[in-house]
Amino acid sequence: MDDLESLADEIRSADTVVAFTGAGISAPSGVPTFRGDDGVWEKFDEGQFTYGRFRSDPEGFWDDRVDLQRELFAEEYQPNAAHDALAAIGRDGHLEAILTQNTDGLHAKAADETAAGPSENGDETGDDRTDEAAEANAETAADDTTLLELHGNARRVRCTDCGRRRDADPIFDRAAEGELPPTCDCGGVFKPDVVLFGEQLPGAVIQRARSLARESDVFLAIGSSLVVEPAASLPRQAASTGATVGIVNLESTPVDDAADVVRREDVTEVLPRLRELLETP
Ligand code: APR
Repeated sequence: MDDLESLADEIRSADTVVAFTGAGISAPSGVPTFRGDDGVWEKFDEGQFTYGRFRSDPEGFWDDRVDLQRELFAEEYQPNAAHDALAAIGRDGHLEAILTQNTDGLHAKAADETAAGPSENGDETGDDRTDEAAEANAETAADDTTLLELHGNARRVRCTDCGRRRDADPIFDRAAEGELPPTCDCGGVFKPDVVLFGEQLPGAVIQRARSLARESDVFLAIGSSLVVEPAASLPRQAASTGATVGIVNLESTPVDDAADVVRREDVTEVLPRLRELLETP
């Protein structure tokens, strides 16, 4: 039995399985990663995208953010075989939650969960999440699997005054045409609906992520360099409370030593294979 087969066995007998994902799961869809030679932070200065700059210089922030958004969403990305396999594993009842650092909305798309995404007409997103979850900008249900978008969703913007959420594209178009910073009907400044550097993750979200990690019997970290908090500590927390930890990432991570299974392979190879193993006991 290889280590992926034993991981599938663990998942089959587990009560709570949690998947934690990063930019590497979306890379095969064409979405750029942040670190590494082709990473976004090789081309852009991450120091320009801080919450402090948004507050002190919203005009300059938005001017630069338009370029970053074009780089991040150069095309209409589609979920890949890894997103699909994870969604299927969830649909088959094996997955309690997906915690993602990604802001591309592709997990929700893979689960065909339209309520999680922006509306097509650019009006209010009109989602019906609870106030707390909407406030936390983070939680949507993908089938029976909880989806926690830890860093928000870059396909939306949110008014910093009235809290209204809008589809990002038309607002970015307005900014590109010179409305800097773009503002809401109420006069408030729009902010990308993401957690910026220097901005706290909503407390409710981080608490939920930590308790899911602690409750998990199997914790899978997929496509993340695991260097940014809470990514760095969640797998260790899971391991410290007895979970089997699996890491799937092309490069080594600082958390590999805490993992039971490490696959340094492409996510689009490993996740469909894992799903296959789960289907054929
Ligand atoms: N299969 C497996 N792993 C892959 C693949 C692939 N096809 N493609 C890339 N990877 C791996 C890379 O080796 C890298 O270690 O995915 C990892 C992505 O790491 P990062 O770019 O650091 O992304 P992430 O961990 O999600 O970054 C965390 O940092 O800048 C912030 O807010 C941003 O959410 C982001 C956070």
